[in-house]
Amino acid sequence: MTSKEIKISYQEYETLDQLEPKDKELAQAAIEATALAYAPYSKFNVGAAVMFEDGVIVKGANQENAAYPSGICAERTALFYASASRPDKAMAEIAIAAQQNGELVERPVTPCGACRQVMAQYQTKSGIPMKVLLIGAQKIWKFEKVDDLLPLIFDSI
Ligand code: THU
Repeated sequence: MTSKEIKISYQEYETLDQLEPKDKELAQAAIEATALAYAPYSKFNVGAAVMFEDGVIVKGANQENAAYPSGICAERTALFYASASRPDKAMAEIAIAAQQNGELVERPVTPCGACRQVMAQYQTKSGIPMKVLLIGAQKIWKFEKVDDLLPLIFDSI
């Protein structure tokens, strides 16, 4: 038997102003995208913004449905829209933010497992690491690749 360890590292920032300009622009797009949420049930408005390698940004937000499982998260809305609108372009980064009661949530929003899996596949499709920026009112976390949020990614087929 051999014991193994997986190390995950990420950067923590206190304010948007500490981010490099492109990251700040993407973070602001994710915050803006929270206004696009349709979340009448949870009232948890999530916004996501995907930046392509060429700097183009597309936004998505969570879309809920009375048949709850038919709704979809902000991240997948943005990622599917990004791939469907610019199928041959590489995605380089995704930022995620959420508002509750009209305010940015304090702790950075951490994506659900299904969204991490979808991010992982678009990272593979793009052929470059996809950075992930998780925005909170108090802290911002930056991951250099999806693997840091989803170690041992399923990619066997
Ligand atoms: N949600 C997202 O859009 N992204 C996340 O990372 C977490 C959860 C949505 C799904 C649902 O519309 C609402 O937030 C409450 O779970």
